[in-house]
Amino acid sequence: MLVNMNEILMKAKKEKYAVPHLNINNLEWSKYILEKCEEQKIPIILGVSESAAKYMGGFKTITQMIKGLIEDLKITIPVCLHLDHGSNIEVCKKAIDAGFSSVMIDASKHELSENIRMTKEVVEYAHKKGISVEAEVGHIGGSEDNITSTIENATLEECKKLYEQTKVDALAPALGSAHGIYKQKPKLDFELMKIINKEIPIPLVLHGGSGIPDDQIKKAISCGIAKINVNTDLQIVWSKAVRKYLNENENIYDPRKIIGSGELSIKQRIDEIVTLFGTKR
Ligand code: 13P
Repeated sequence: MLVNMNEILMKAKKEKYAVPHLNINNLEWSKYILEKCEEQKIPIILGVSESAAKYMGGFKTITQMIKGLIEDLKITIPVCLHLDHGSNIEVCKKAIDAGFSSVMIDASKHELSENIRMTKEVVEYAHKKGISVEAEVGHIGGSEDNITSTIENATLEECKKLYEQTKVDALAPALGSAHGIYKQKPKLDFELMKIINKEIPIPLVLHGGSGIPDDQIKKAISCGIAKINVNTDLQIVWSKAVRKYLNENENIYDPRKIIGSGELSIKQRIDEIVTLFGTKR
């Protein structure tokens, strides 16, 4: 069943656990993630970046693919199909029109007033259709989709202003995490995280989940993080397994065997993530 984020994140915020947002890249990854989460009986947020959407053919293809997998694999857990880092209003509307159950409008590269204006317009469009919206305050930065940018931490005032003026459903404040591989240990601002969580009644999102030490992940969850985005981590474990398989099996050319040689590594990593995040049914 495709659901919006609110149905799974409000419970996570209240009960202090995090729901994984795992980015998908193709049919196989989507299938592995759905199968594993069904086995674990936990809700899941499937994140789709704009470039991943383009790679897979487009939003309609992805919606049909996920709906088809849910039906064929008899998936019973709540599944949220979420646009990750939508860069403009049009792309968010397009994902919603194609059947996505949730979108992120990432207007964090603009001034706060413009971020608020864009977020508000997406929220108005989305809420009429029962679709949830995530926004970003400050700028998370790091390296994603071959684009590198620097971190700009959010402030409490910015978060409050954006929430109050837009009534967005989930908020990703930049508090020291970054996308991609960390060159140094990340330094998250847990104090501010705690305060934002107290002052704003919606779930908080932690981007750049790959490579954050376990103790910091646990602390972030205790400070109010209810959704953690993980992308690079699964890419690394999958590519390591596939590289090993290709090196050891030079005569194999069946793409199903090649792509599938990374299945176990993804599923094992999801088990670890779910345990770490304390994700509940
Ligand atoms: P990582 O690739 O660092 O895990 O970040 C993922 C993310 O935040 C997607 O929005």
